[in-house]
Amino acid sequence: MIELLRRFGGKFRRYMVIGPACKLIEVIFDLLTPLVIAQMIDKGIGAHDVSAVIHYGMVLGAMAVIGISFTLVCQKMAALTSQGMGTDIRGALYKHINKLSYAELDRFGTPSLITRITNDVNQVQLAVALGVRMLIRWPFLAVGSMCAALAIDLKLGIIFLICTPAIGLVFWVVMARCIPYYKQLQAKLDRIALICREGLSGARVVRAFVREDHERERFAQAADDQANTAIAVGKLSSILNPVTFLVMNLGVCAILWVGGIQVSVGELTQGQVMAFVNYMTQTLTSIVYVANLVVVFTKASASASRINEVLNCEPSITDEDNEPVALPQAPATDVDAPVSALSLSHTSFSFGAGAANAVNDVTLELPLGKTLGIIGGTGSGKSTLVSLIPRLYDASTGSVSVMGADVRTWPLDQLRHVVATVPQRASLVSGTIRSNLTWRDESATDEELWAALDMAQASEFVRNKPQGLDAPVEAGGKNFSGGQRQRLTIARALVGSPQILIMDDSASALDFKTDAALRHAIRERSMRGAAEGELPLTTVIVSQRVSTVRDADMICVLDHGSVAGLGTHDELYATCQLYREICQSQLRREELEGQQGSAAPASVPSPASAPAAPASTCAKEGC
Ligand SMILES: Nc1ncnc2c1ncn2[C@@H]1O[C@H](COP(=O)(O)OP(=O)(O)O)[C@@H](O)[C@H]1O
Ligand SMILES: [Mg+2]
Repeated sequence: MIELLRRFGGKFRRYMVIGPACKLIEVIFDLLTPLVIAQMIDKGIGAHDVSAVIHYGMVLGAMAVIGISFTLVCQKMAALTSQGMGTDIRGALYKHINKLSYAELDRFGTPSLITRITNDVNQVQLAVALGVRMLIRWPFLAVGSMCAALAIDLKLGIIFLICTPAIGLVFWVVMARCIPYYKQLQAKLDRIALICREGLSGARVVRAFVREDHERERFAQAADDQANTAIAVGKLSSILNPVTFLVMNLGVCAILWVGGIQVSVGELTQGQVMAFVNYMTQTLTSIVYVANLVVVFTKASASASRINEVLNCEPSITDEDNEPVALPQAPATDVDAPVSALSLSHTSFSFGAGAANAVNDVTLELPLGKTLGIIGGTGSGKSTLVSLIPRLYDASTGSVSVMGADVRTWPLDQLRHVVATVPQRASLVSGTIRSNLTWRDESATDEELWAALDMAQASEFVRNKPQGLDAPVEAGGKNFSGGQRQRLTIARALVGSPQILIMDDSASALDFKTDAALRHAIRERSMRGAAEGELPLTTVIVSQRVSTVRDADMICVLDHGSVAGLGTHDELYATCQLYREICQSQLRREELEGQQGSAAPASVPSPASAPAAPASTCAKEGC
């Protein structure tokens, strides 16, 4: 909490001084009130002097008005500080989270980051507001009332001195048990957020698989777990108020009894006894409020440490001091194109210490303007491998170079502008088609946007929309079909003239004809660019379909993160058993029989009997 105050409180220092100062004035009036009431009782009511009662009544009224005015100022200061700090912390968190690499985002998890940015910041905000308003008030009122009461009568003060530690003890015992629960509560809230997010974002799949009951059960368990902890804390802290008020009221009884005797022997006036009772009530109530403050601050400090954990997490992928990389000149002819657009040298990557390598010792080189196809079963490391190119993850060992320069030496903005990625999951955000297409280049003209849509085979359905490029896109692009979403994300990657285009299984929802038309359009654009003296477009196509990668200049067959084969379709068909098995499971008999120099086996399965997924075994010796 202190760390957050130090980081974000500076701007609000003025408010944090003015607010409590105003509160202090209100507290002084609160402390004087019992004395004025005592005078009113003794000089007015006791002496049957109505004018004295009116006089002291007016004094009380004036004190109340002044007190309220200062309270209002304090309230405003508290609101400005807490809301301002909350906004700043949220902004800083959001900015910092955007700087974190995938590795750190994986570690925290999206639901937890959302809870931290919302609920945890709210807890801190609440504590700051209470701090400005109450941190001075209650302790000052408690001590001030105690001193004023003791000044009235020391003998009655003994009752006071017994009650105060008794309440303190109850409070200490209860709080010591409650505090550990507050930390657990936040973690349990994270779990609820996680289940909510999974259940709601996958609502269609949940319904398709009739898993509603299972999801409801999972949510109910998490909610019950959180509720049980909250109830346990509630039960414990519910002891606080009755016990403190019991002690307080017993104390008041004792004072009235002893005070009554002293009044009857003339040692104290009635007004003094009333003032004493008021001070005692004020002190003990203040202690209860201080207890509540401690609860709020304990919760806030658990939240603050979760916020600091994110803010102090250094992004593992940075580009400080990286100078812009000079792009190679476009080759005059095909023959003199020695520059490699992409090269991986003994590249390995694992998602965490102790985890198996998701990418294992991959070495390959792709010349400028060529197409690399990556094929392999689910979980073979295709997405992980391509995410190393725009540096979404850093390779654990080995290196990845783009245009001859190690990706670690590129400024990230430049690298991610040169390398355009179409992720496996098409993601669109709410806005318009135009606002979704201009992510890479905000100044792109309509002509450029239509050209990209044409290439991505998306122009037809966009043209059919009455608003065209300004047609609305709902959150997550849910008003488009899966295939339309994919085509729009492909078009988005093509805007802003990338030099390397990575499509991670991006054509999976496209029919074969559209998929082929898309690849043809990309190849044409690459050739046209080269003819016009631009750098030719280099393409990396990840797919589970042989038909999508078979025309690539080079195909990389991945198996459990390792390269099982590297070469052209014909070469691989002849030499790599895993690739051959994938082909046999997907291509038609005529297509397989047409293999040049192929090592096609005598028995080729017909498409009807072909397994849906490629076989997972790989005879590496054959590759
Ligand atoms: N964020 C992640 N954290 C931990 N493991 C992961 C993560 N993403 C992928 N993996 C693991 O890495 C392996 C390769 O995954 P991936 O590259 O997505 O495969 P593919 O794209 O070929 O289907 C899989 O075993 C998968 O479980
Ligand atoms: Mg994948």
